[in-house]
Amino acid sequence: MKIAVPREVDPEESRVAATPDTVKRYIGLGATVAVETGAGLKSRIPDAEYAAAGATIAPSAAEAVADADVVLKVRRPDASEIGAYRRGALVIAIMDPYGQAEALKAFADAGLTAAAMELMPRITRAQVMDVLSSQANLAGYQAVVDAAGTYGRAMPMMMTAAGTVPAARVFVMGAGVAGLQAIATARRMGAVVTATDVRPAAKEQVESLGAKFVAVEDEEFRQAETAAGYAKPMSAEYQAKQAALVAEHIKKQDIVITTALIPGRPAPKLVSADMVASMKPGSVLVDLAVERGGNVDGAKSGHTVETEGGVTILGLANAAGRIAATASQLYAKNLFAFVETLVDKKEKRLAVNWDDELVKATVLTRDGAIVHPQFQS
Ligand code: NAI
Repeated sequence: MKIAVPREVDPEESRVAATPDTVKRYIGLGATVAVETGAGLKSRIPDAEYAAAGATIAPSAAEAVADADVVLKVRRPDASEIGAYRRGALVIAIMDPYGQAEALKAFADAGLTAAAMELMPRITRAQVMDVLSSQANLAGYQAVVDAAGTYGRAMPMMMTAAGTVPAARVFVMGAGVAGLQAIATARRMGAVVTATDVRPAAKEQVESLGAKFVAVEDEEFRQAETAAGYAKPMSAEYQAKQAALVAEHIKKQDIVITTALIPGRPAPKLVSADMVASMKPGSVLVDLAVERGGNVDGAKSGHTVETEGGVTILGLANAAGRIAATASQLYAKNLFAFVETLVDKKEKRLAVNWDDELVKATVLTRDGAIVHPQFQS
Protein backbone atom coordinates (compact mmCIF):
# COMPACT_ATOMS: atom_id res chain seq x y z
CA MET A 1 0.00 0.00 0.00
CA LYS A 2 1.64 3.21 -1.18
CA ILE A 3 0.49 6.62 0.03
CA ALA A 4 1.56 9.76 -1.83
CA VAL A 5 1.68 13.32 -0.53
CA PRO A 6 2.27 15.73 -3.43
CA ARG A 7 3.05 19.42 -2.95
CA GLU A 8 0.03 21.72 -3.26
CA VAL A 9 0.13 23.43 -6.67
CA ASP A 10 -2.07 26.42 -5.78
CA PRO A 11 0.35 29.20 -4.78
CA GLU A 12 -2.19 30.41 -2.19
CA GLU A 13 -2.20 27.06 -0.41
CA SER A 14 0.34 26.77 2.37
CA ARG A 15 -0.98 23.65 4.07
CA VAL A 16 0.15 20.08 3.47
CA ALA A 17 -1.79 16.82 3.80
CA ALA A 18 0.65 14.89 6.00
CA THR A 19 3.06 15.63 8.82
CA PRO A 20 6.00 13.57 10.07
CA ASP A 21 3.67 12.32 12.81
CA THR A 22 1.04 11.02 10.39
CA VAL A 23 3.74 9.59 8.10
CA LYS A 24 4.90 7.46 11.03
CA ARG A 25 1.33 6.38 11.68
CA TYR A 26 0.77 5.38 8.03
CA ILE A 27 3.96 3.36 8.11
CA GLY A 28 2.61 1.76 11.29
CA LEU A 29 -0.41 0.67 9.24
CA GLY A 30 1.95 -1.09 6.84
CA ALA A 31 2.08 1.61 4.16
CA THR A 32 5.00 3.14 2.34
CA VAL A 33 4.80 6.92 2.06
CA ALA A 34 6.23 9.15 -0.69
CA VAL A 35 6.31 12.90 -0.08
CA GLU A 36 7.11 15.29 -2.91
CA THR A 37 10.13 17.43 -2.14
CA GLY A 38 9.16 20.77 -0.63
CA ALA A 39 5.58 19.68 0.14
CA GLY A 40 5.81 20.76 3.77
CA LEU A 41 7.98 23.86 3.46
CA LYS A 42 5.18 26.43 3.81
CA SER A 43 4.00 24.54 6.89
CA ARG A 44 7.53 24.70 8.33
CA ILE A 45 8.22 21.01 7.69
CA PRO A 46 11.50 20.37 5.84
CA ASP A 47 11.98 17.22 3.72
CA ALA A 48 14.45 15.89 6.29
CA GLU A 49 11.71 15.61 8.92
CA TYR A 50 9.54 13.52 6.60
CA ALA A 51 12.55 11.39 5.72
CA ALA A 52 13.37 10.92 9.40
CA ALA A 53 9.78 9.74 9.93
CA GLY A 54 10.33 7.08 7.26
CA ALA A 55 8.99 8.70 4.08
CA THR A 56 10.69 8.58 0.72
CA ILE A 57 11.24 12.07 -0.71
CA ALA A 58 10.21 12.14 -4.38
CA PRO A 59 11.82 14.75 -6.64
CA SER A 60 8.53 15.49 -8.47
CA ALA A 61 4.79 15.07 -8.07
CA ALA A 62 4.76 12.49 -10.87
CA GLU A 63 7.31 10.38 -9.04
CA ALA A 64 5.51 10.77 -5.71
CA VAL A 65 2.17 9.58 -7.09
CA ALA A 66 3.45 6.88 -9.46
CA ASP A 67 1.71 3.61 -8.48
CA ALA A 68 0.24 5.20 -5.36
CA ASP A 69 -2.91 3.55 -3.99
CA VAL A 70 -3.82 6.65 -1.99
CA VAL A 71 -3.08 10.30 -2.81
CA LEU A 72 -3.53 12.80 0.02
CA LYS A 73 -4.03 16.46 -0.80
CA VAL A 74 -5.33 19.62 0.80
CA ARG A 75 -7.08 21.03 -2.30
CA ARG A 76 -8.77 19.18 -5.14
CA PRO A 77 -6.07 18.23 -7.65
CA ASP A 78 -6.55 19.80 -11.08
CA ALA A 79 -6.63 18.02 -14.44
CA SER A 80 -2.88 18.27 -14.93
CA GLU A 81 -2.25 16.68 -11.54
CA ILE A 82 -4.66 13.78 -11.84
CA GLY A 83 -3.16 12.85 -15.21
CA ALA A 84 -0.25 11.32 -13.28
CA TYR A 85 -2.39 9.31 -10.84
CA ARG A 86 -2.82 5.56 -11.21
CA ARG A 87 -6.29 4.40 -12.35
CA GLY A 88 -8.16 3.14 -9.31
CA ALA A 89 -6.24 5.33 -6.86
CA LEU A 90 -8.11 6.79 -3.90
CA VAL A 91 -7.69 10.59 -3.77
CA ILE A 92 -8.67 12.34 -0.55
CA ALA A 93 -8.82 16.14 -0.26
CA ILE A 94 -11.05 19.12 0.48
CA MET A 95 -12.73 18.66 -2.89
CA ASP A 96 -14.96 21.75 -2.99
CA PRO A 97 -17.33 19.80 -5.28
CA TYR A 98 -20.25 22.25 -5.60
CA GLY A 99 -20.64 23.55 -9.15
CA GLN A 100 -17.60 21.52 -10.26
CA ALA A 101 -19.31 19.02 -12.58
CA GLU A 102 -16.45 19.12 -15.08
CA ALA A 103 -13.80 18.44 -12.46
CA LEU A 104 -15.81 15.55 -11.03
CA LYS A 105 -16.23 14.07 -14.50
CA ALA A 106 -12.46 14.30 -14.99
CA PHE A 107 -12.00 12.27 -11.79
CA ALA A 108 -14.50 9.68 -12.97
CA ASP A 109 -12.93 9.50 -16.45
CA ALA A 110 -9.50 9.01 -14.89
CA GLY A 111 -10.90 6.02 -12.97
CA LEU A 112 -10.16 7.63 -9.60
CA THR A 113 -12.02 7.28 -6.35
CA ALA A 114 -12.35 10.86 -5.08
CA ALA A 115 -13.33 11.45 -1.45
CA ALA A 116 -14.30 14.91 -0.13
CA MET A 117 -13.30 15.41 3.50
CA GLU A 118 -15.69 18.33 3.97
CA LEU A 119 -18.67 16.03 3.35
CA MET A 120 -17.83 13.94 6.41
CA PRO A 121 -20.97 13.54 8.51
CA ARG A 122 -20.91 15.44 11.79
CA ILE A 123 -21.44 12.38 13.95
CA THR A 124 -19.49 11.44 17.06
CA ARG A 125 -17.41 8.74 15.35
CA ALA A 126 -16.28 11.18 12.67
CA GLN A 127 -15.48 14.16 14.91
CA VAL A 128 -11.78 13.40 14.67
CA MET A 129 -12.12 13.59 10.85
CA ASP A 130 -14.08 16.86 10.77
CA VAL A 131 -11.97 19.20 8.63
CA LEU A 132 -14.63 21.90 8.63
CA SER A 133 -14.28 22.16 12.39
CA SER A 134 -10.51 21.78 12.61
CA GLN A 135 -9.92 24.47 9.99
CA ALA A 136 -12.77 26.83 10.98
CA ASN A 137 -11.55 26.85 14.57
CA LEU A 138 -8.13 28.08 13.42
CA ALA A 139 -9.71 30.55 11.00
CA GLY A 140 -11.64 32.12 13.89
CA TYR A 141 -8.46 32.43 15.91
CA GLN A 142 -6.48 33.85 12.98
CA ALA A 143 -9.21 36.41 12.19
CA VAL A 144 -8.76 37.97 15.62
CA VAL A 145 -4.96 37.86 15.39
CA ASP A 146 -5.09 39.62 12.01
CA ALA A 147 -7.66 42.13 13.26
CA ALA A 148 -5.50 42.92 16.29
CA GLY A 149 -2.44 43.36 14.05
CA THR A 150 -4.31 45.82 11.84
CA TYR A 151 -6.16 47.69 14.59
CA GLY A 152 -3.29 49.96 15.66
CA ARG A 153 -4.57 50.19 19.21
CA ALA A 154 -4.29 47.87 22.19
CA MET A 155 -6.94 45.17 22.71
CA PRO A 156 -7.04 44.97 26.53
CA MET A 157 -7.80 47.73 28.96
CA MET A 158 -4.56 49.02 30.43
CA MET A 159 -4.25 51.31 33.40
CA THR A 160 -0.83 52.89 33.19
CA ALA A 161 0.89 55.90 34.74
CA ALA A 162 0.59 57.59 31.37
CA GLY A 163 -3.14 57.07 31.21
CA THR A 164 -5.86 54.48 30.78
CA VAL A 165 -6.28 52.60 27.51
CA PRO A 166 -9.84 51.39 26.91
CA ALA A 167 -10.51 47.76 25.94
CA ALA A 168 -11.36 47.17 22.27
CA ARG A 169 -14.98 46.33 21.49
CA VAL A 170 -15.21 43.24 19.32
CA PHE A 171 -18.44 42.03 17.68
CA VAL A 172 -18.55 38.51 16.23
CA MET A 173 -21.29 37.74 13.72
CA GLY A 174 -21.99 34.03 13.33
CA ALA A 175 -21.19 31.92 16.40
CA GLY A 176 -20.44 28.53 14.84
CA VAL A 177 -17.05 26.88 15.14
CA ALA A 178 -15.06 29.85 13.75
CA GLY A 179 -17.12 32.46 15.59
CA LEU A 180 -16.85 30.75 18.96
CA GLN A 181 -13.06 30.53 18.63
CA ALA A 182 -12.98 34.20 17.57
CA ILE A 183 -14.94 35.08 20.72
CA ALA A 184 -12.62 33.03 22.93
CA THR A 185 -9.51 34.53 21.32
CA ALA A 186 -10.75 38.12 21.58
CA ARG A 187 -11.68 37.54 25.22
CA ARG A 188 -8.21 36.14 25.94
CA MET A 189 -6.75 39.32 24.45
CA GLY A 190 -8.85 41.35 26.82
CA ALA A 191 -11.48 42.76 24.45
CA VAL A 192 -15.09 43.41 25.39
CA VAL A 193 -16.92 40.91 23.17
CA THR A 194 -20.46 40.69 21.84
CA ALA A 195 -21.77 38.18 19.32
CA THR A 196 -24.81 37.35 17.26
CA ASP A 197 -26.24 34.31 15.50
CA VAL A 198 -29.61 33.22 14.18
CA ARG A 199 -29.49 29.84 15.93
CA PRO A 200 -30.90 29.91 19.44
CA ALA A 201 -28.41 27.25 20.60
CA ALA A 202 -25.64 29.75 19.98
CA LYS A 203 -26.83 32.08 22.73
CA GLU A 204 -25.76 29.86 25.60
CA GLN A 205 -22.46 29.02 23.92
CA VAL A 206 -21.67 32.70 23.41
CA GLU A 207 -22.53 33.52 27.02
CA SER A 208 -20.50 30.59 28.35
CA LEU A 209 -17.44 32.19 26.71
CA GLY A 210 -18.06 35.43 28.56
CA ALA A 211 -19.50 37.41 25.65
CA LYS A 212 -22.84 39.16 25.43
CA PHE A 213 -25.42 37.83 22.95
CA VAL A 214 -27.07 40.38 20.67
CA ALA A 215 -29.96 39.23 18.44
CA VAL A 216 -33.62 39.65 17.61
CA GLU A 217 -35.04 36.75 19.63
CA ASP A 218 -38.49 36.34 18.10
CA GLU A 219 -40.48 33.22 17.16
CA GLU A 220 -38.59 32.78 13.87
CA PHE A 221 -35.27 32.87 15.77
CA ARG A 222 -36.54 30.12 18.07
CA GLN A 223 -37.16 27.90 14.99
CA ALA A 224 -34.01 28.79 13.08
CA GLU A 225 -31.94 25.67 13.58
CA THR A 226 -32.11 22.65 11.25
CA ALA A 227 -31.97 19.10 12.59
CA ALA A 228 -28.31 19.00 11.54
CA GLY A 229 -27.61 22.05 13.73
CA TYR A 230 -27.14 24.49 10.85
CA ALA A 231 -28.72 27.89 10.25
CA LYS A 232 -31.71 28.29 7.96
CA PRO A 233 -32.03 31.24 5.57
CA MET A 234 -34.06 33.87 7.46
CA SER A 235 -37.11 35.74 6.14
CA ALA A 236 -36.73 39.24 4.69
CA GLU A 237 -38.70 40.54 7.67
CA TYR A 238 -36.36 38.97 10.20
CA GLN A 239 -33.31 40.16 8.28
CA ALA A 240 -34.62 43.74 8.34
CA LYS A 241 -35.19 43.62 12.11
CA GLN A 242 -31.78 42.06 12.65
CA ALA A 243 -30.13 44.67 10.39
CA ALA A 244 -31.66 47.51 12.40
CA LEU A 245 -30.34 46.03 15.64
CA VAL A 246 -26.91 45.38 14.13
CA ALA A 247 -26.73 48.88 12.63
CA GLU A 248 -27.13 50.45 16.08
CA HIS A 249 -24.64 48.06 17.66
CA ILE A 250 -21.92 48.22 15.01
CA LYS A 251 -21.45 51.99 15.32
CA LYS A 252 -19.92 51.45 18.72
CA GLN A 253 -17.59 48.59 17.75
CA ASP A 254 -13.86 48.71 17.05
CA ILE A 255 -13.53 45.29 15.43
CA VAL A 256 -16.17 43.17 13.67
CA ILE A 257 -15.47 39.55 12.71
CA THR A 258 -18.03 37.92 10.42
CA THR A 259 -18.29 34.16 9.96
CA ALA A 260 -21.95 33.64 8.96
CA LEU A 261 -22.64 30.82 6.52
CA ILE A 262 -25.61 28.76 5.41
CA PRO A 263 -24.64 25.38 3.90
CA GLY A 264 -25.01 25.23 0.10
CA ARG A 265 -25.94 28.93 -0.24
CA PRO A 266 -24.15 32.21 -0.71
CA ALA A 267 -23.18 33.87 2.58
CA PRO A 268 -25.86 36.16 4.02
CA LYS A 269 -25.14 39.88 3.61
CA LEU A 270 -25.05 41.22 7.15
CA VAL A 271 -22.99 44.41 7.14
CA SER A 272 -24.02 47.09 4.63
CA ALA A 273 -21.82 49.88 3.29
CA ASP A 274 -23.78 52.31 5.50
CA MET A 275 -22.98 50.25 8.58
CA VAL A 276 -19.28 50.20 7.61
CA ALA A 277 -19.41 53.98 7.11
CA SER A 278 -20.93 54.42 10.59
CA MET A 279 -17.84 52.92 12.25
CA LYS A 280 -15.05 55.07 13.71
CA PRO A 281 -11.86 55.62 11.68
CA GLY A 282 -9.34 52.92 12.57
CA SER A 283 -12.02 50.26 13.00
CA VAL A 284 -11.40 46.86 11.41
CA LEU A 285 -13.77 44.33 9.86
CA VAL A 286 -12.66 40.78 9.07
CA ASP A 287 -14.88 38.84 6.69
CA LEU A 288 -14.25 35.11 6.99
CA ALA A 289 -17.19 34.33 4.68
CA VAL A 290 -15.61 36.29 1.84
CA GLU A 291 -14.86 33.22 -0.31
CA ARG A 292 -18.58 32.33 -0.26
CA GLY A 293 -19.73 35.81 -1.32
CA GLY A 294 -19.01 37.65 1.91
CA ASN A 295 -21.00 39.00 4.87
CA VAL A 296 -19.58 42.52 4.53
CA ASP A 297 -20.44 44.87 1.69
CA GLY A 298 -17.19 45.87 -0.03
CA ALA A 299 -15.08 42.94 1.22
CA LYS A 300 -12.79 41.48 -1.45
CA SER A 301 -11.50 37.94 -1.24
CA GLY A 302 -7.80 37.89 -0.45
CA HIS A 303 -7.60 41.69 -0.27
CA THR A 304 -7.51 44.50 2.28
CA VAL A 305 -9.90 47.35 1.50
CA GLU A 306 -9.54 50.81 3.12
CA THR A 307 -12.73 52.86 3.04
CA GLU A 308 -12.79 56.64 2.72
CA GLY A 309 -13.90 56.77 6.33
CA GLY A 310 -10.69 55.07 7.47
CA VAL A 311 -12.20 51.65 8.13
CA THR A 312 -10.21 48.58 7.06
CA ILE A 313 -11.99 45.50 5.67
CA LEU A 314 -9.89 42.32 5.58
CA GLY A 315 -11.29 39.76 3.14
CA LEU A 316 -9.52 36.78 4.66
CA ALA A 317 -9.31 33.98 2.11
CA ASN A 318 -8.01 30.62 3.35
CA ALA A 319 -7.66 32.00 6.85
CA ALA A 320 -6.61 28.61 8.21
CA GLY A 321 -3.79 28.61 5.64
CA ARG A 322 -2.41 31.74 7.33
CA ILE A 323 -1.58 29.58 10.31
CA ALA A 324 -0.36 26.77 8.11
CA ALA A 325 1.82 24.77 10.47
CA THR A 326 -1.02 24.28 12.95
CA ALA A 327 -3.68 23.90 10.26
CA SER A 328 -1.62 21.18 8.55
CA GLN A 329 -1.07 19.37 11.84
CA LEU A 330 -4.82 19.14 12.45
CA TYR A 331 -5.81 18.50 8.82
CA ALA A 332 -3.23 15.71 8.52
CA LYS A 333 -4.64 14.13 11.67
CA ASN A 334 -8.20 14.38 10.28
CA LEU A 335 -7.01 12.57 7.14
CA PHE A 336 -5.18 9.87 9.04
CA ALA A 337 -8.22 9.13 11.19
CA PHE A 338 -10.28 8.58 8.02
CA VAL A 339 -7.65 6.54 6.14
CA GLU A 340 -7.20 4.31 9.18
CA THR A 341 -10.84 3.22 8.81
CA LEU A 342 -10.16 2.22 5.17
CA VAL A 343 -7.29 -0.15 5.90
CA ASP A 344 -7.25 -3.82 6.81
CA LYS A 345 -4.62 -3.71 9.53
CA LYS A 346 -3.88 -7.44 9.46
CA GLU A 347 -3.50 -7.67 5.71
CA LYS A 348 -1.85 -4.23 5.58
CA ARG A 349 -3.82 -3.15 2.53
CA LEU A 350 -6.69 -0.87 1.56
CA ALA A 351 -10.03 -2.51 2.28
CA VAL A 352 -12.73 0.11 1.80
CA ASN A 353 -16.17 -0.81 3.08
CA TRP A 354 -18.30 0.93 0.47
CA ASP A 355 -21.37 0.63 2.71
CA ASP A 356 -19.80 2.52 5.62
CA GLU A 357 -21.70 5.78 6.14
CA LEU A 358 -18.48 7.80 6.23
CA VAL A 359 -17.44 6.36 2.86
CA LYS A 360 -20.89 6.83 1.33
CA ALA A 361 -21.04 10.43 2.50
CA THR A 362 -17.62 11.42 1.16
CA VAL A 363 -16.95 9.38 -2.01
CA LEU A 364 -17.78 11.41 -5.11
CA THR A 365 -16.50 9.19 -7.94
CA ARG A 366 -15.71 5.52 -8.31
CA ASP A 367 -15.24 2.97 -11.10
CA GLY A 368 -15.48 5.60 -13.82
CA ALA A 369 -18.68 7.25 -12.60
CA ILE A 370 -19.93 10.02 -10.30
CA VAL A 371 -21.52 8.00 -7.50
CA HIS A 372 -22.48 10.64 -4.93
CA PRO A 373 -26.24 11.26 -5.21
CA GLN A 374 -25.83 14.99 -4.56
CA PHE A 375 -23.58 15.44 -7.58
CA GLN A 376 -25.17 13.14 -10.17
CA SER A 377 -26.77 15.21 -12.92
P1 NAI B 1 -21.34 27.44 9.47
O1 NAI B 1 -19.89 27.59 9.11
O2 NAI B 1 -22.25 26.81 8.49
O3 NAI B 1 -21.94 28.89 9.84
C1 NAI B 1 -21.32 29.74 10.78
C2 NAI B 1 -22.35 30.36 11.68
O4 NAI B 1 -23.07 31.38 10.97
C3 NAI B 1 -23.41 29.39 12.21
O5 NAI B 1 -23.39 29.42 13.62
C4 NAI B 1 -24.72 29.96 11.65
O6 NAI B 1 -25.80 29.76 12.52
C5 NAI B 1 -24.37 31.42 11.51
N1 NAI B 1 -25.29 32.20 10.67
C6 NAI B 1 -25.91 31.87 9.51
N2 NAI B 1 -26.67 32.87 9.05
C7 NAI B 1 -26.55 33.90 9.94
C8 NAI B 1 -27.09 35.21 10.02
N3 NAI B 1 -27.93 35.67 9.11
N4 NAI B 1 -26.76 35.97 11.09
C9 NAI B 1 -25.91 35.51 12.04
N5 NAI B 1 -25.36 34.28 12.01
C10 NAI B 1 -25.67 33.48 10.98
O7 NAI B 1 -21.49 26.68 10.86
P2 NAI B 1 -20.48 25.74 11.66
O8 NAI B 1 -19.43 26.57 12.27
O9 NAI B 1 -20.06 24.64 10.79
O10 NAI B 1 -21.43 25.20 12.82
C11 NAI B 1 -22.77 24.85 12.60
C12 NAI B 1 -23.31 24.03 13.73
O11 NAI B 1 -22.75 22.73 13.71
C13 NAI B 1 -23.02 24.56 15.12
O12 NAI B 1 -24.14 24.32 15.92
C14 NAI B 1 -21.90 23.71 15.59
O13 NAI B 1 -21.84 23.70 17.01
C15 NAI B 1 -22.32 22.40 15.00
N6 NAI B 1 -21.20 21.46 14.89
C16 NAI B 1 -21.41 20.15 15.21
C17 NAI B 1 -20.38 19.25 15.14
C18 NAI B 1 -20.59 17.82 15.50
O14 NAI B 1 -19.72 17.04 15.35
N7 NAI B 1 -21.75 17.45 15.91
C19 NAI B 1 -19.04 19.65 14.71
C20 NAI B 1 -18.95 21.03 14.37
C21 NAI B 1 -20.01 21.89 14.45
